[in-house]
Amino acid sequence: MNRASTKNFVPQETIDEIRSRSDIVEVISECGVSLRAAGRDFKALCPFHTEKTPSFSVSVQKQIFYCFGCQTGGNVISFLQKHEGKSFIEAIEWLADRLNIELPNQDPRAIANRKRYATLEDLNRFAVEYYHHQLLNDRAGVPAKQYLNKRGVQPSTVRAFQLGFAKSGRRELVKAATDKGFTIQQLVDVGLIKDDDHGPQDRFWNRILFPIHNARGAPVGFGGRALSEEHQPKYLNSPATVLYDKSNILYNLHKARQAIYKEQRLLLVEGYMDVIMLCQSGINNVVASSGTSLSEDHARLLKRFVPEVVIVYDGDASGFQAAQRGLLRLLAEGLRVRIARLPTGEDPDSFTRQHGVEAFTQLINKAINLIEFQIQAAIQSRDIHRIDVKTQIVTELTETLINVENRVELSEYVKYAVRELRIDESILWQELQDAGLKNETSAPQRTRQAKGAPQKLSARSQIEHQLIEALLQNPALIPYVKSQFDCQDFTEPRYTRIAQLLWEADTDGAPVDIQTFINNCSDESLSAFVSGVLLRKTPPPNLQARVDGCLKKLRNFLMRDLEHRVRSSALAEGADEIETLQQLVKLSNERRALSNRDAQDAPSRNINDGRS
Ligand code: UTP
Ligand code: MN
Repeated sequence: MNRASTKNFVPQETIDEIRSRSDIVEVISECGVSLRAAGRDFKALCPFHTEKTPSFSVSVQKQIFYCFGCQTGGNVISFLQKHEGKSFIEAIEWLADRLNIELPNQDPRAIANRKRYATLEDLNRFAVEYYHHQLLNDRAGVPAKQYLNKRGVQPSTVRAFQLGFAKSGRRELVKAATDKGFTIQQLVDVGLIKDDDHGPQDRFWNRILFPIHNARGAPVGFGGRALSEEHQPKYLNSPATVLYDKSNILYNLHKARQAIYKEQRLLLVEGYMDVIMLCQSGINNVVASSGTSLSEDHARLLKRFVPEVVIVYDGDASGFQAAQRGLLRLLAEGLRVRIARLPTGEDPDSFTRQHGVEAFTQLINKAINLIEFQIQAAIQSRDIHRIDVKTQIVTELTETLINVENRVELSEYVKYAVRELRIDESILWQELQDAGLKNETSAPQRTRQAKGAPQKLSARSQIEHQLIEALLQNPALIPYVKSQFDCQDFTEPRYTRIAQLLWEADTDGAPVDIQTFINNCSDESLSAFVSGVLLRKTPPPNLQARVDGCLKKLRNFLMRDLEHRVRSSALAEGADEIETLQQLVKLSNERRALSNRDAQDAPSRNINDGRS
């Protein structure tokens, strides 16, 4: 049932062919982004964030896109993944289809399954329309329409969400669908009917139906709301089927996608009604977990679309517990998560209806995250004027904060914590470093880095950046650099990661293809970074000389590191002074020798020499 598993069946050559024959400008235009020619490139208002002047660029020559505003970037495949919410294989299939390229699918079972699923999706589509039509046009649908009206659901919302009504008969759909040529078995397979001793019977009767779609927008199931208290359960849902796996479906995700991109955050609510009423109030970046607990698959799915989730569960004990569990799940997946708490007894639907959408938005903006929650908890009801208490709190906070992996976020939390605690920022950074925080750049620089702003790098990181830039601009230089520089020697973890991937990509002797490289970047921020580098600059004329310059400077830094280490270990262990001195002399000699060699060799060396 997992279609992504066919990934392994598409050979790299086919992927390469599909990619190289797809024109990124055409594809992006087809996806509704209006591109304008600007010199050799194309520009547009970025579809991934809200902006007034275009900073979204597409390079025809390099076949990549990059937004200088929100730093989203990649190639044609990553664009389809991000913009259309397709998985890798879905993007490949879509492009192949567009180019009339037959995907070599060796697995006949997979082909058969695909056909079968397509028919079942058609059946669901038929049912959605059938039930929707019943609600709007059948006399029996009148009480349901009145019910929705009483709850404030407008006709346009009914249409937008294709709400439906299942009449009280037991064979209404059985008849309508079989008349259309669908089989009883197919109806059973999508969970729309039951077929037992009593013969085939509709699953849903006398209920308002909420069609449920997958992230691609194909209908996969229904939630059915009873019209009265007596009719139990309140909601009856489709069973798990080959199309509908509760653990990876979120209600309204397909419709919310564009709004999610724009807002760069998503609201996670519990119920169908919460979703449709918020959308009716103009809040569109909302999906529902539909009463099931948030699974790992849900979290992974969300991670594909959005960096931040605000959980707005019902204001009751079970809602709060579910929110806390959800929060941990999402955090584990690397998402930013916050919790907004509703007053007891309210859910987003009732709250918005009672207090208005403004009040709801305020509540969302006040949502706190786990770390802030822990910082508050550590400080609350303690006397922060006492030095010993303050010291104790700093220790506690250090234990919490050391776990925050994202450095930009960490710096935000540090700021938050020192403000609450009224201490100097440098104290907390020092504590964190003592507790084992890896120092890439010095703390004050890190705190200045805001998302979207160009990062201020140390002199050393700047050289590292130049080196990586040169390698991406001319991958033919990779073997040369690889042979003399260890990727672990970058101080910026991101450069280490890229170098590792470049070194790996270089194995078979053929020059590294940057497009393939972008596809293989497991981490989206890396592929965006690579695209950014390529779109930002035209390479300087003599890349080889630049690379040599970088290598020389970086080796110098490394030597200094080494000297540093020898010195401090000597101090710490009270080692033999003479021996230390000898080591230091040796090191500084080596350093001198290195710079001399570089000075002599660099101008005459070329790429091919490096490879041999
Ligand atoms: P709620 O009970 O909060 O329902 O359950 P709701 O969405 O607010 O709906 P109204 O306003 O009472 O009509 C939240 C979600 O939990 C699932 C449904 O997905 C529902 O939207 N649920 C609830 C069920 O699946 N079965 C149930 O019996 C109840
Ligand atoms: Mn509710």
